[in-house]
Amino acid sequence: MQVISRRLGNQSLKPSASISLLKSIYPIYDHHYGPDHGRYVSTLTPKGVGHLVRKGTGGRSSVSGIIATVFGATGFLGRYVVQQLAKMGSQVLVPFRGSEDSHRHLKLMGDLGQIVPMQYNPRDENSIKAVMAKANVVLNLIGREYETRNYSFEEVNHSMSEQLAMIAKEHGGIMRFIQVSCLGASSSSPSRFLRAKAAAEEAVLRELPEATILKPAVMIGTEDRILNRWAHFAKKYGFLPLIGDGSRKIQPVYVVDVAAATVAALRDDGTSMGKVYELGGPEIFTEHDLAELMFETIREYPRYVKVPFPIAKAIATPREMFLKRVPFPLPNPETFNLDEIHARTKDTVVSENALTFNDLGIVPHKLKGYPIEFLISYRKGGPQFGSTISERVSPDAWP
Ligand SMILES: NC(=O)c1ccc[n+]([C@@H]2O[C@H](COP(=O)([O-])OP(=O)(O)OC[C@H]3O[C@@H](n4cnc5c(N)ncnc54)[C@H](OP(=O)(O)O)[C@@H]3O)[C@@H](O)[C@H]2O)c1
Repeated sequence: MQVISRRLGNQSLKPSASISLLKSIYPIYDHHYGPDHGRYVSTLTPKGVGHLVRKGTGGRSSVSGIIATVFGATGFLGRYVVQQLAKMGSQVLVPFRGSEDSHRHLKLMGDLGQIVPMQYNPRDENSIKAVMAKANVVLNLIGREYETRNYSFEEVNHSMSEQLAMIAKEHGGIMRFIQVSCLGASSSSPSRFLRAKAAAEEAVLRELPEATILKPAVMIGTEDRILNRWAHFAKKYGFLPLIGDGSRKIQPVYVVDVAAATVAALRDDGTSMGKVYELGGPEIFTEHDLAELMFETIREYPRYVKVPFPIAKAIATPREMFLKRVPFPLPNPETFNLDEIHARTKDTVVSENALTFNDLGIVPHKLKGYPIEFLISYRKGGPQFGSTISERVSPDAWP
């Protein structure tokens, strides 16, 4: 695939401290892509993917011309992005690091040979180059909202993004780079995760000024990690712990809309290049309102235990204290994640002058209705208890 233009002049690469750390763990082979290498220029075309050769009617068996490497395809958002790319006839390269099972649900989303799983090691630059080699667009959906013994916030959410952007820049044929960050990511955030996400945005834009940054709010959908967890907890224990007083404002968004925005940004004529979009749903909820909607849908009487921040932090702290001190892995935090508790001290809504779904030509769905219909599986009496989609649920109707 020919690259139309190289807009930026030669810039020498100055890897940040985090990349140097990665290099010390896993040596990076500089002799192929040294700073004096002719390809060390931004190689993204200013025209997006509009000029790619397309064939067919635009459906699953057509050829969109897009060959996308989707890092993080095995995650929650990844499955919807892969599905939307595959259904317009794109070839999707799926880097995976875990077992063969982590990607098998993706294989059926495209025609035979269109979804290509490729094992890689996120700490080995050569394996990253291998999964990007045939691509003409790169999407980075990698992220993790808790630390493990092996991976720090900074490595997963910042250094890896920086490294992907550097490799995409060297590649010479990557036309679009889409980085998925997080609404609320800022260098002044009380959360380390959000600070790492902000650092990643900066690093990606430094390497590839034409990259597009998407900052979704908390995502809702069948595999989400908020309503599912709440419903599960409420069913098991008969109440829901609300951290703080539940008055924090959030703007939850349907995951399918975020995937649609990702693909819209990818396919446009280059308008979204170099821009940052904040993707929030059409309604602002307090955490308490969202929990009410969850209880209403699962048809349980809403009972809350308000957990003040200091107590929530005290519950969450031991895991973080012992994480790197004990010789075995600790369970991943669910309800009480210390860093998330820090993040929850601030409202997270789309800022006033931000570019949004609107600017990508997408109208996001309201949550009530189809986007949260998966919650009916938590209903007492089974999912068929009561009516389902588009139903008006009134608390008076509860037994
Ligand atoms: N979920 C939300 O509500 C939400 C809201 C705003 C922004 N975001 C951001 O949106 C992006 C996608 O979110 P998601 O909910 O789809 O995340 P997810 O379900 O947790 O998936 C994350 C992906 O990142 C990969 N990953 C995690 N740690 C990794 C590591 N150390 N090395 C290599 N790969 C690693 C995972 O691979 P494995 O399958 O191998 O673990 C997975 O494919 C993330 O950047 C996230 O921060 C999410």
